Amino acid sequence: MSTQNSSMAGLVQKYNVAAPRYTSYPTVPFWDENTFSTAAWTDQVYHTFTQSKDKGLSLYIHLPFCESLCTYCGCNTRITKNHQVELPYIMSLLKEWEMYLAVFKERPLLSEIHLGGGTPTFFQPENLKLLIEGILKHVDVTLDSSFSFEAHPANTKTAHLQILFDLGFRRLSLGIQDFDPLVQFMINRHQTFEEVEEVMQNARTIGFDSINFDLIYGLPKQTETSVQDTIEKSMLLGPDRISFYSYAHVPWLKPGQRHYTEADLPKGTVKLALYNLGKTMILAQGYADIGMDHFAKKEDALYVAFQQERLHRNFMGYADHYSPLLIGIGVSSISDAWGGFAQNVKTVEEYHKRIESGILPVVKGHILNQEDLIIRRYILDMMCKGKVQLDPETHLTGQIKEELSTLVMDGLVTIEGDMIRCTVTGRSFLRNICMAFDQRLLKLRSKPQLFSEAI
Ligand SMILES: C[S@@+](CC[C@H](N)C(=O)[O-])C[C@H]1O[C@@H](n2cnc3c(N)ncnc32)[C@H](O)[C@@H]1O
Ligand code: SF4
Repeated sequence: MSTQNSSMAGLVQKYNVAAPRYTSYPTVPFWDENTFSTAAWTDQVYHTFTQSKDKGLSLYIHLPFCESLCTYCGCNTRITKNHQVELPYIMSLLKEWEMYLAVFKERPLLSEIHLGGGTPTFFQPENLKLLIEGILKHVDVTLDSSFSFEAHPANTKTAHLQILFDLGFRRLSLGIQDFDPLVQFMINRHQTFEEVEEVMQNARTIGFDSINFDLIYGLPKQTETSVQDTIEKSMLLGPDRISFYSYAHVPWLKPGQRHYTEADLPKGTVKLALYNLGKTMILAQGYADIGMDHFAKKEDALYVAFQQERLHRNFMGYADHYSPLLIGIGVSSISDAWGGFAQNVKTVEEYHKRIESGILPVVKGHILNQEDLIIRRYILDMMCKGKVQLDPETHLTGQIKEELSTLVMDGLVTIEGDMIRCTVTGRSFLRNICMAFDQRLLKLRSKPQLFSEAI
């Protein structure tokens, strides 16, 4: 083993601790319920809405249903083969949207819609049309709007693609994860290369201009050979973007992950080697490394945003667009008004009940204080730009530098004056670097395991 590899092995061993993915700050387990109430939340929404009216708001719609459970899955899902659930759920979504329209008090401008899940393509195409038309009836849309959806290749029909395209959708994200039959068997998720190829070709023919692949490293029974094969097959299809996620193993939250054992999982340096192999192959095909787990073709909007330092990170990962107001509707959706977060109830039954009673279905959230707002900006800059300019005026500066000193010695960051920069080595440890800024985590040094491991 080379010196460089052995020092990398040492770093992986040292930094492979439970760490948040920092899609928000404060991270969800640290939200302070005492700061939150539905009234405080709607005040925050109204405030941000009035401040940023001309920028347009983003809308996330959670569609939780899937026909079968992929055992590795960490998303909020409801497994059913009963498609009678579609219409009542759409009716509740439209009622929730009406509740937000009442908060805005005027017709909003919309810049983004993202359909996530679960599996949006579980829904019949005409039902998706009903939903989107119901939303659009009450809004104006920005000229540079971006509508996207997540699609399972095994159930995405040409009619889904055509109807969503006609409604203004131009981007889709295909869940691939891995093409290897043994890995697919282990995670109970099946789609062939040919199925993915057909969806890709149909989407391109219809006119979709940005297609993302979700791939994962660290899945049960994955090997360097299977990852190499998955990346080779993906490269043949040429997606515009690739999300190459680290498998999050959280069996205490997702019992489906107990269908395999810890012994089936590649861990530590073995897992990191899978990432490095995939990353090398993706970069060799001309994609650019955007951030923690995202790659994009150099003409794609995500790369352009990265270069122009306009990249943003939210609950869905990296984004080329930033709206100060993100409204999430549907089961378990999270909304973000910059100064506050709110999350909806997590079960379909509870969701319908709240909506029927005319109550906004938010169940928990957090209103950010001054310190949270500063740290939120720092963590976002580190995740999106790989650098942070500390404000010398705040009391946090000295403490953050002290907290970072070990990471400086390990070569993960550099400090020049008040400028903190992530090094090339540090890019594999971004989650650990952000932990040094995370005041809420630092105040709770002896903590139970709340997050998956960093590597
Ligand atoms: C809602 S799913 C995608 C849409 C569709 N349901 C599908 O499976 O094709 C969102 C993505 O989250 C990622 N994901 C889910 N569980 C994960 C886990 N435990 N660790 C890492 N990524 C995960 C997968 O890459 C998945 O494609
Ligand atoms: S990976 Fe997608 S299809 Fe599978 S259970 Fe999760 S959300 Fe459903």
